[in-house]
Amino acid sequence: MPQTLTSPGLTTGHAPFIEEARNRGELYIAQPYELYSEENHEAWRRLFARIRPRWERYANDHFLRGIEALNLPADRIPRLSEVNQRLQPLTGFQAKPVSGYVPGFLFFDCLRRREFPTTITIRDKDRMDYLPEPDIFHDVAGHVPMHTERAFADVLVRFGDCAHTAAELTAGMRDQVERARRLTNIMKAMSRFFWFTVEFGLMRGPRNSVVAYGSGLLSSYGELEHAIDSPETQRYPVQIEWLINQGAEIDHYQPLLFIVESFDHLFSLVDTLEHWMREGRLDNVAPGLPEINDRDLRSFMDAAI
Ligand SMILES: [Fe+2]
Repeated sequence: MPQTLTSPGLTTGHAPFIEEARNRGELYIAQPYELYSEENHEAWRRLFARIRPRWERYANDHFLRGIEALNLPADRIPRLSEVNQRLQPLTGFQAKPVSGYVPGFLFFDCLRRREFPTTITIRDKDRMDYLPEPDIFHDVAGHVPMHTERAFADVLVRFGDCAHTAAELTAGMRDQVERARRLTNIMKAMSRFFWFTVEFGLMRGPRNSVVAYGSGLLSSYGELEHAIDSPETQRYPVQIEWLINQGAEIDHYQPLLFIVESFDHLFSLVDTLEHWMREGRLDNVAPGLPEINDRDLRSFMDAAI
């Protein structure tokens, strides 16, 4: 069969570079920019052009300023080195390329160091909508603009502190079964909190409107509008009791979203999360999603603290 000479590209699920890095056990990698195919850049162009008017309408002001501050290109996939040159002076954050899933403790520990684990592959240009795993559009167009904002960046760092607290609180436990049970509950609470805020959070906007700051919303053309305009979505003022006990489902539009007043408000909630953890109030949260897998659990149990 004749061979085609097109680049294999860095398409989600079809990127030999990524598979090889994973096979070598490399989690932190470089962004091999020359490997992006023309189709990969086309996917970015389409995603960016399609969602831009919805950002103007539904995104919080900090995000819109972040997009400008980073000068994200509309016509090609961004180079992370260029993004970081603009980002780092603002809040100290950097996008750090990874080969795939980062186990729980390592992920939060990166945030604590102001490093954001960033996917470098991009979805297939013919599959623009639902994607079960993150890609560079979700991570760089959805998350990274928020990292230009000081108060929001501090929230992420505070999450990293919480992960350390969880590891410290359980490190001395003799009963390993009870230790794993307790950690599983704490991790479930933290994941749900993160999900309903950093990924799918809403906040109060001008004139009592509601706007999006969660990156799962800001990177989804369909869900961004649905989250704010659809009568099918329940939107409530945030309450930590709900954040930690409500199951987080990933394969459909979120039916239930929570509104914060400001990022200072969100920061105070993460503070409360840590206090509750210390008081044992996260040790028995409601069962349900997300499942905590062995890699995540192990990452907390083996944490160097
Ligand atoms: Fe995300």
